[in-house]
Amino acid sequence: MEIVDSTIGLAAFKGCGFVPTMGALHEGHFELIRSCVRDGLPPLVSIFVNPTQFAPHEDFNRYPRTLEADARGCQEAGAVAIFAPTVEVMYPRGMARAQEEAKSLHLPTVAVKPRLEDACRPTHFAGVCQVVARLFELCRPQRAYFGEKDYQQLRVITQMVESSRSTDTTCSMPQIVPCPTVRDADGLALSSRNRYLQPHDRERALSLSRALQRAREILRDDTAPGTLGATEVIARAESAMRDELERHQLQIDYAVVRDANSLEPVTDAHAPLQPGMLRALIAARLGAVRLIDNA
Ligand code: PAJ
Repeated sequence: MEIVDSTIGLAAFKGCGFVPTMGALHEGHFELIRSCVRDGLPPLVSIFVNPTQFAPHEDFNRYPRTLEADARGCQEAGAVAIFAPTVEVMYPRGMARAQEEAKSLHLPTVAVKPRLEDACRPTHFAGVCQVVARLFELCRPQRAYFGEKDYQQLRVITQMVESSRSTDTTCSMPQIVPCPTVRDADGLALSSRNRYLQPHDRERALSLSRALQRAREILRDDTAPGTLGATEVIARAESAMRDELERHQLQIDYAVVRDANSLEPVTDAHAPLQPGMLRALIAARLGAVRLIDNA
């Protein structure tokens, strides 16, 4: 497996299928690589734990770094190379300047309005947009693959690309390809942070996927013609999710049902609900471990 750590070796991968990651790879990441193979594009995987998307109190220093195992997994999944840049390659003007630049970025609406991850991690999406735009500029992919696991991030990147395209028709941003969340057999969404979970916390962590399942049932059953209005059904689904999470003593950051595109609340009480129009999203903490999931 070729590991490229400078920009010089990147020219050969222009037009590739691109899978940006922070490493500590698992089946969720490998499935993104396989999607790219199925599309007939050579997959380039980036591994970079991006300092500008972590707040000072977050887990940047202890984020798992497992390059050797990652390289083996990438090879098996069909990747052609890994781009594993240093901080100096990504931010040649230095970290202080990079942090400043992140703060002054103009972010897509979906990165600032929904009050979801944007409220819980106020500097996060500026760092994500900054690093993803820089990775796109360096790697020049044809398509880039993102997981629905980080649903707000997927919407943010999609909007960032759409708005660059609308202001600059010659823009070389890639097509964004959304990929479904990969779960363990018991329903827990795979995450590099699951390794922080104590064995006895795993059962409690499953309340996220169970809560999403409850929301799905309520939204499906109670929206039949002649039953409740949209906002009332959504309120019931949100309340059922909170009950499930609280029963297992998880600390809830949010457990909501939103418009699947804008991620803003649905305010039209009688909006006709169609499949795919809504997203249920949860962020909850189990001690020091913060988990997110959506459906
Ligand atoms: P990371 O958390 O490593 O995730 C990299 C990609 O893998 C993201 O698109 C994420 O949504 C996807 N992913 C993670 N778990 C998944 C799962 N269980 N099923 C499907 N896809 C999954 O997200 C980041 O890194 C960073 O913010 C990044 C975009 C690389 C910018 O630094």
